[in-house]
Amino acid sequence: MALFRAESLAVTYSSSRGPVKALEGMDATLGQGEFLSVLGPSGCGKSTLLKVVAGLLKPSAGSVMLGGAPITGPRPDVGIVFQQPTLLPWQNALDNVLLPVRTLGLDLQAGREKAAALMRLVGLEKFSAHYPSELSGGMQQRVGIARSLVHDPALLLMDEPFAALDAMTREHMMMELQRIWMAAGKSVLFITHSIPEAVFLSDRIAVLSERPGRTIRELEIDLPRPRTLDTMADRRFADYCNELRSLFAAQFSDPVPHQVPHQ
Ligand SMILES: Nc1ncnc2c1ncn2[C@@H]1O[C@H](COP(=O)(O)OP(=O)(O)O)[C@@H](O)[C@H]1O
Ligand SMILES: [Mg+2]
Repeated sequence: MALFRAESLAVTYSSSRGPVKALEGMDATLGQGEFLSVLGPSGCGKSTLLKVVAGLLKPSAGSVMLGGAPITGPRPDVGIVFQQPTLLPWQNALDNVLLPVRTLGLDLQAGREKAAALMRLVGLEKFSAHYPSELSGGMQQRVGIARSLVHDPALLLMDEPFAALDAMTREHMMMELQRIWMAAGKSVLFITHSIPEAVFLSDRIAVLSERPGRTIRELEIDLPRPRTLDTMADRRFADYCNELRSLFAAQFSDPVPHQVPHQ
């Protein structure tokens, strides 16, 4: 059974220049334990979709169901990682991870143990007492990931979590996220505009059209796990990337190059 299902979803913003249709006729499903990427160009409505699933934004039309119930507001069984780590600068890393435990009024002692375990999971056990300003961008983002998992949500929503990172940190973080996902057994809705990132991480990719966004293609990524740096040199990895690039080149007004150069 699908954990999450959006049907004929539409979101129209009202702005000073008139209504802006961000999503229209958008369909998507996410299976239990599945890693789904939503891939699309800038401005096509990806963050809008994430906000709807997070219960932060009400759709103008269509239905969104999570665990068989309509989404009516933020829910404790959802964890969110935003593009920026959004940590509280005056709290150390461990206290930042504990934030959802405090806001949801969960047991603090159990929360502390879970937070410490998650700091280990994201490879930051030695940095619990560090403040955000003492951590690199990649480390802060990993604290954000630990925070999104501390209340043990069934669904993890990630909005371009690595977009602000440099290329090397980004590759490292993709490996980390795959490891965390495989260990924690969550369902993930991962938003990105990076084709290689989507292919590397996903079980399935939903490709969105330009605004107003709707799903124009779904692609299963049949590559063995755990995926490694070698995966990125695999012929099939390049084939998936090329297939998606061709799709973008055919669909969008600002096409990207058709072929990946061979290394
Ligand atoms: N609060 C808002 N008011 C008006 N327009 C908005 C608002 N938020 C987003 N938009 C517009 O909706 C479209 C989709 O935005 P967004 O979901 O953030 O796209 P993406 O995340 O894919 O870059 C964009 O054209 C954006 O300018
Ligand atoms: Mg966005």
